[in-house]
Amino acid sequence: MDYVFPNGFLWGGASSGPQSEGGSNEGGRVKSEWDYWFEREPERFFDGVGPAVTSDFYHKYKEYIQKMRQAGVTSYRTSIQWSRVIKDCEGTVNEEGVAFYHDVINEMIANGIEPMMCLHHFDLPEYWVKKGGFENRETVFAFAKFAAVCFERFGDRITYWTTFNEPVIIPETGYLYQRHYPAVCDAKKAAQVGFHVQLASSLAVEEFRKSGCSGKIGIIINLTPTYCENPDKAEDRKAADILDLIFNRSFLDPSVKGEYPEELTELLKEEGILPEIAEGDLDIIRKNTIDYLGVNYYHPRRAKARTSVYEGPLMPEKYYEPYTPSGQKMNTSRGWEIYEPAIYDIAKNIKENYGNLPWYISENGMGIQGEEEYMDENGVVTDDYRIEFIKDHLKYLHKAIEEGSNCFGYHLWAPFDCWSWINAYKNRYGLLRVDIYDNCKITMKKSGTWFKELSDRNGF
Ligand code: BG6
Repeated sequence: MDYVFPNGFLWGGASSGPQSEGGSNEGGRVKSEWDYWFEREPERFFDGVGPAVTSDFYHKYKEYIQKMRQAGVTSYRTSIQWSRVIKDCEGTVNEEGVAFYHDVINEMIANGIEPMMCLHHFDLPEYWVKKGGFENRETVFAFAKFAAVCFERFGDRITYWTTFNEPVIIPETGYLYQRHYPAVCDAKKAAQVGFHVQLASSLAVEEFRKSGCSGKIGIIINLTPTYCENPDKAEDRKAADILDLIFNRSFLDPSVKGEYPEELTELLKEEGILPEIAEGDLDIIRKNTIDYLGVNYYHPRRAKARTSVYEGPLMPEKYYEPYTPSGQKMNTSRGWEIYEPAIYDIAKNIKENYGNLPWYISENGMGIQGEEEYMDENGVVTDDYRIEFIKDHLKYLHKAIEEGSNCFGYHLWAPFDCWSWINAYKNRYGLLRVDIYDNCKITMKKSGTWFKELSDRNGF
């Protein structure tokens, strides 16, 4: 084998409650922001497929768990849906929801899969949506209460917790780029929401420390390295640095170091969008840093200095223009560039600038439209492109580990095809295919068989 990984390296996959479970009005679950939005604007969702059934993990979790294990998955991260566990703004616990997650966790353990749990994967309960979501400070404290319930109920069996998945997506996509609810473009609100989400995460860390649980608490951040067109040009470098502040360091620094980068605070001040911060908030953030980091990596960002004056509402586009590097590789289904060396650069950044804290790749993967085209005569999706994609990324991860990076695992998005928000089932990511028009029938793809070998051999 050319690439052997450290002993105990985690091989697994990630999904989330709202993208996999379905059963959206069963077991006492209340509506979430996605149910709420789909009811109002179903036309926004690819093929009109909404969040009600998704991949039906709610009913079929035993089969999924067995088949994931057959595909070599030995650790699985999903999220506990707030809307399944807490019924209302008062924090009333839904015991049926708790029982569901007990069963899922126990089933994973019984099948040799390490359960890793995230507490927020873009799924606010409707009762908080109606009160302004994370614009409202009350939501922040309610999240911390929900987190405390989870630590108390499941903390005896979960070693790896995370507070939020891709927290920056909440302000970025809900309050700037309009692909999540409430789909507005308002930089001031985005900044406030971003701050509240960080505060909620830090408060959840505080609850975790109080709970006495023996596991570890982290956060999952989508680190999107920004490369500039001409590193010798100060203006290009500046454009890239600003994007790094907005999209990466806005959550990475407070979560790992307990403080915001000064340059970010200055930028928000200059734009007149500094969030309201109550006395004591920054102290909470300072005292409650994480134990480990999950990194979702899909694609890089490309930036050069603007060549024209930006007109329009305040957006990150004010500070840069994108460029296309020569020889750029693309995943055309998703419209994302494929650039494997970034994974090495991320590892180096964590090592050099963030104390080499323990981290893992919590998501990396390739969503492809029309996978039916690649089915062989037995109905197996022969997804060689996915196998190549994983290998090419792992080579760079391996190099980083050899050079001392403290990376302890690789999770693929996703072990099985799942619902991609407004893209619904357009792009498929799984090692296992899910036929959503045939009772969510689950079949192994070629990548599933390959991943099993990878995981069994701890390398390739
Ligand atoms: C990550 C998210 O951003 O990427 C997942 O954590 C998401 O929830 C995944 O599904 C893939 O992106 P998309 O938009 O194709 O579903």
